[in-house]
Amino acid sequence: MKLCMEGIFKNFKNKEVLKGIDTTLENGVYGLLGPNGAGKTTLIRILAGVMEPSQGKVLIDGRDKSTCDDEYRSRIGYLPQDVSYYTDFTGRDYLRFAAALKGLEKGYAEKQIEKLADSVGLSDDLHRNCAVYSGGMKRRLGIAQALLNEPEILILDEPTTGLDPHERIKFRNIISAFSKDRLVLLSTHIVPDVESIAKEIMMMEYGTIGRKCTAEEYISQIDGFVWTAMVPMEQLVEFQKNVVISNVVPRGDMMEVRVIDEKKPSSDAKNTTPNLEDAYLYVFNYLKGGAA
Ligand SMILES: Nc1ncnc2c1ncn2[C@@H]1O[C@H](COP(=O)(O)OP(=O)(O)OP(=O)(O)O)[C@@H](O)[C@H]1O
Ligand SMILES: [Mg+2]
Repeated sequence: MKLCMEGIFKNFKNKEVLKGIDTTLENGVYGLLGPNGAGKTTLIRILAGVMEPSQGKVLIDGRDKSTCDDEYRSRIGYLPQDVSYYTDFTGRDYLRFAAALKGLEKGYAEKQIEKLADSVGLSDDLHRNCAVYSGGMKRRLGIAQALLNEPEILILDEPTTGLDPHERIKFRNIISAFSKDRLVLLSTHIVPDVESIAKEIMMMEYGTIGRKCTAEEYISQIDGFVWTAMVPMEQLVEFQKNVVISNVVPRGDMMEVRVIDEKKPSSDAKNTTPNLEDAYLYVFNYLKGGAA
C-alpha cells in the first residue's frame, strides 16, 4: 500500500492553509504532529476523502484517488477530530449504522462490532445511550467505528483526546497490533502517543511538512541540547523568558528545570538524555526563537 501526496494545496477563500504537501506513506504507523492551526485536520480530511484539495492529487498505489473514490472509501477507516453522535442511539446502534454506511454484510458487521467493542473495552456499555458516554468512551466508540471494515488505510485525527493514561496505552497497543501490513496515519498533540509506535513522524507547521523521519532521528538531532539546571524559585520567571523549558520540578526551595538550548543555559547545567517531546519543543519553540 502506497499513499502518495503530490503538490497538495488548500485555500479557504484567501487563506492558504496547505502550502504544497509532497510525501509518500507506506505500510506502518505515521504520526502527524504540529501546533493548533498547522493544517493537520485539513490534510487528514483530504486524505479521508471528505474534502478536495485546491490543487494537487492523492495517489493510491499509483492511481489517482479521484478516479477510484468509491473503492478508496471501502479501503479506509476514518476517525474525525470532532464526532457528534445521534442522541437517541445506543453504542451498538451507532456501530450498526456506521457498518451499514460502509456497506458491510450484516453477519460480518455483528461479529466485527462484538470483537471491536471488546478490544476498545465497551462490551458492557454497547446497550447504553451514546449521549451518556464519557469523552473517553465516545472516543473509543469512534475508534471502533473506524476499524469496522478492517481498513487497509486507517486515518485518525486526534484519536487519544479525552483518553486517560490507561486507555492511551491500550489504544497504542490496539493500533500497533492493527498496523501490521496496513497504513495508519494519526495526528496528535500528545507526543508520547506516537513516540513508541510511529515508524516515522511528520512535523507540520503553517501548512507544510518540515520533516518526516523516525523518532530516533529527531532525538539525535538535539543530542547535547537538553539540560537540567537548578534555579532559585524567585528567579524562575526571569529565567523562563530567555530559554525554552520542557519541565519544572520543585526540589526544596529550588526548581529543577529541563531546558532545550544549543548553549549551556547556566554554569551548573548538566546535559541529559533527550526525548521526542524535547525535539518537538526544539522544532516548534527553540528554532522559532520563542521561550516557553
Ligand atoms: N472550513 C474552513 N474554512 C475556513 N478556514 C478553515 C476551515 N478549516 C480550517 N480552516 C483554517 O485552516 C487552518 C488549519 O486548520 P486545521 O483544522 O487543519 O488545523 P489543525 O492543525 O488540525 O489544528 P488543531 O491542532 O487545532 O486541530 C486554521 O487556521 C483554520 O482556521
Ligand atoms: Mg485538527
